[in-house]
Amino acid sequence: MATQTLPEQATADTFPINGTDYIEFFVGNAKQSALYYRAAWGFELQGYRGPETGVRDRASYLLVQGKIRFILTSPLGPEGPIAEHVQRHGDGVRDLAFWVDDARDAFAKAVERGAKPVHAPEVRRDDHGEVIVAAIQTYGDTIHSIVERRNYRGLFLPGFMPASSPYAPASTGLLHVDHCVGNVELGRMNEWVGFYERVLGFYNLLSFDDKDISTEYSALMSKVMSNGNGRIKFPINEPAAGKKKSQIDEYLDFYRGPGVQHVALATNDIVKTVTDLKSRGVEFLTVPTSYYDNLLDRVGTIDEDVGPLSKLGILVDRDDEGYLLQIFTRPVEDRPTLFYEIIQRKGAKSFGKGNFKALFEAIERDQAARGNL
Ligand code: FE2
Repeated sequence: MATQTLPEQATADTFPINGTDYIEFFVGNAKQSALYYRAAWGFELQGYRGPETGVRDRASYLLVQGKIRFILTSPLGPEGPIAEHVQRHGDGVRDLAFWVDDARDAFAKAVERGAKPVHAPEVRRDDHGEVIVAAIQTYGDTIHSIVERRNYRGLFLPGFMPASSPYAPASTGLLHVDHCVGNVELGRMNEWVGFYERVLGFYNLLSFDDKDISTEYSALMSKVMSNGNGRIKFPINEPAAGKKKSQIDEYLDFYRGPGVQHVALATNDIVKTVTDLKSRGVEFLTVPTSYYDNLLDRVGTIDEDVGPLSKLGILVDRDDEGYLLQIFTRPVEDRPTLFYEIIQRKGAKSFGKGNFKALFEAIERDQAARGNL
């Protein structure tokens, strides 16, 4: 069940990207969502922006764990783009922000290559310096902010004030964003692959077709786009024809269009992280225990004991460079849309192709329970 990794290609990033700057979610009630991510996921509340800081139309909470920064934002009334986003999509990802060294140059080059601007570079200042932020559109209502912070020494962004709380649940060991997956409509995957190639200079790291990713009932196709340094990895999925409704179709129906399907967060100790997350109420997909019967025959020797992996439902896959351990949550909203992956890489640079069948069958059991298969 080993997967293949394509050779690294010479890349031509349109502009250098240092990594994910932040992920912003538009949600119905950011105050309560922030408590969920703190209590269940171990994020630390570090910042706040809202009426108390002079912003009249929204409230935002900055949550941090390792190098991961989430912003949770809610509208304070029914008007405007944030409220419209929440009404249409439910809680979801609005912004996958890039950290760059020169936002003006990055924005100009992206637009020159065909990116649709959301807003031109804006200089935001406070006593700690300045941040330059621009933004371009990607699939659906999702955007990429382009953030330059080399002349800023403050907490996060001008406008945010430091926040803390005596309630400070411990970290669950999450370190950084490994990849972010987008779901797009049937027939549109290659268009968005082309966007990341043409506009951002990304390359196609891996491709999966419906022969790789299909069960008896449903199928999907996927291409993984990566920037040159590999810190930004965006798999793009589209549904493929199957006997029944693909999980991607279910997402597109309930999100009312394309959007971010899952965010993969990395840990160095997946058994500890998942044990912790489960004890705090995070719900994971489960696979039949038969998955573990011949695990070591399929993936070879691994450092971990199979017992705890089996007990927690953690999946294992190997490629030419090593292996990886991964597990997927159930959707974290009532709409079957955004979910999370927890991943620990031990050399492998791939995405767990050997687990797709077991995983999708688990998703289909949940889809059937929702009446959506
Ligand atoms: Fe993933």
